[in-house]
Amino acid sequence: MRTKILVVYFSRTGTTKQAAEIIARKLKCGCGEIGDECDIKSHGIIVFGTPVQNAGLPPEVSDFLKGNDLRGVKIYPFFTTGGIYRYVIHDLKSLCPLSRINEPIYIYNRGSGNAVEENINLICSWAEKICAQEGIQ
Ligand SMILES: Cc1cc2nc3c(=O)[nH]c(=O)nc-3n(C[C@H](O)[C@H](O)[C@H](O)COP(=O)(O)O)c2cc1C
Repeated sequence: MRTKILVVYFSRTGTTKQAAEIIARKLKCGCGEIGDECDIKSHGIIVFGTPVQNAGLPPEVSDFLKGNDLRGVKIYPFFTTGGIYRYVIHDLKSLCPLSRINEPIYIYNRGSGNAVEENINLICSWAEKICAQEGIQ
C-alpha cells in the first residue's frame, strides 16, 4: 500500500499557501491549512509549510504540533522567510521528536514582489525530488 501524502500549511498573508498549492499539484496530493478538517493522522508523509516568525515557528503552528501526534510520520518541511530563521528547524524537531524530518527548504520572501514566483525553480525542483524519493509519477 502506498503511503498517503498530504501538504499541510499555515499562512498569514498567502505566501506559504501559494507555495503549498504548487507543491501539492506537483505531488498530486491533497492540501489543507492547519485547523482545516484534514485527517492528518491517516497520512504517513506530511509536507509541512509555515512562515517564520521571530526566527522560529508561529505560535499557531506550535500549538497545532503540540495537539497532533506526528510520531513515525515523515515530514518534508518548507519555510517562507524574510531571512532570519535560526530557531525554526530546531522548534520543529523539538515539537516532533519522533518524526522523521527531512532537509527543509527556505523560500526567501523580500516582502516586495511575489516570493513564490521568484523562487519557483527551488520550489518545483524540491517537489520533484520528493516525487522521485517517494515514487510519485
Ligand atoms: C509578525 C511577523 C514576524 C516575522 N518574523 C520573521 C522572522 O523572525 N524571520 C523571518 O525570516 N521572517 C519573519 N517574518 C516574515 C515572514 O516569515 C514572511 O513574510 C512569510 O513569507 C509570510 O508568509 P505568509 O504570507 O504565508 O504568512 C515575519 C512576519 C511577520 C508578519
